[in-house]
Amino acid sequence: MPSDEKPTLRWGIVATGLISSWFVADLIIDREDAQANHIIQAIGSSSLEKGKAFVAKHLPNVSPAPTVYGSYDEIYTDPNVDAVYIGTPHAFHKKNCLDAISHGKSILCEKTFTLNAVEAKEVFEAAKAKGVFVMEAMWTRFFPLVKTIQKLVHEDNAIGHVLRVICDFAMDQHLDSKGQESRLKNLSLGASSLLDIGIYSLTWGIIGLEQPLGDTLKEAQEKPRMLATSTLSEGVDVATSMILHYSDGRQAIATSHSGVGVRTPSNFCRIEGSEGSIVVDGGAASVPNSFVLQKRGIEDQKFEFKRPGKGLYWEADAVALDIAAGRKENGTMPWAETIRVMELLDETRRQGGVVFPQDPQ
Ligand SMILES: NC(=O)c1ccc[n+]([C@@H]2O[C@H](COP(=O)([O-])OP(=O)(O)OC[C@H]3O[C@@H](n4cnc5c(N)ncnc54)[C@H](OP(=O)(O)O)[C@@H]3O)[C@@H](O)[C@H]2O)c1
Repeated sequence: MPSDEKPTLRWGIVATGLISSWFVADLIIDREDAQANHIIQAIGSSSLEKGKAFVAKHLPNVSPAPTVYGSYDEIYTDPNVDAVYIGTPHAFHKKNCLDAISHGKSILCEKTFTLNAVEAKEVFEAAKAKGVFVMEAMWTRFFPLVKTIQKLVHEDNAIGHVLRVICDFAMDQHLDSKGQESRLKNLSLGASSLLDIGIYSLTWGIIGLEQPLGDTLKEAQEKPRMLATSTLSEGVDVATSMILHYSDGRQAIATSHSGVGVRTPSNFCRIEGSEGSIVVDGGAASVPNSFVLQKRGIEDQKFEFKRPGKGLYWEADAVALDIAAGRKENGTMPWAETIRVMELLDETRRQGGVVFPQDPQ
């Protein structure tokens, strides 16, 4: 598609932390498969100096240079910003979203979308009332690799009846050396291995076991029964194990660990069916690179995918296409799905004893 036929989206970036740096770096990659033109219009930070340093480090050659603001509010009121990308810790997502919605801005908000399902519902109600687009940035669901697995498993029955999924996301987050300023250590910032990385293991359970939602919005999927346990350190779950149990017997085991010395091997996920399996490989459950289809009596087949940068542009393209088409939510990550995932996370935390100060009493 010639670039002038693609929609153009002007982004305002809220916060200048790690994930915002990945997001902007991905958006400026020149890609053959790009579905939209992305312009980084403005950066909003808690301080002007931080914002300027972010641009100097991550966007040094972008012309025209983004406008830098020493507040988030100026992003929301900038008439040249079409959509806001929220890269603050989970605990601020609700407020950031509500502020952006009140100014009529479209939103792509990092995962986890909020701290709990009650907060997520509040944001979507406000978005509905104002008529603005909102999507949770569950970027992995937008990878061509994931769409390919979903087609093989759920449309082509490539592994027969899908029976179970096992997925792990463990990485040493060096929690001992972190203080209360860290979003990984401070409960009021949403510290939790479950919300930080366990959400990806849970997502692979959903990808492997459930029919994809597709581009046509459907009713929310079945909410599987959840059995969960967590290991806490100063109230923060450093390790969580979940079992998702569906009414027809399908099961997933989804685990996360942020403790000393742990690291998931590259083959982080296995999807098993009555006639074969799919083993997914990558640096972590958030960034799959390849998978192997194993079917009895047939030679193993490896599927590899190009992924320049990190791969956050696929979700950004989806946002641009939705907004250009006048949609308020996305078919791959609709509001009902974000709420369902938040409810599964809430139930996991309830069983594991993980409580945020902001949770409803
Ligand atoms: N998709 C992914 O793979 C991925 C990866 C990492 C993180 N995330 C998600 O992205 C969000 C941010 O994570 P991150 O790793 O980028 O965090 P981070 O590096 O700590 O950055 C968070 C940014 O939020 C702003 N902020 C505002 N109030 C803050 C406070 N009280 N404490 C700390 N930061 C505050 C700061 O930016 P300013 O000072 O500029 O305002 C800070 O730089 C989380 O929800 C996380 O789950 C997603």
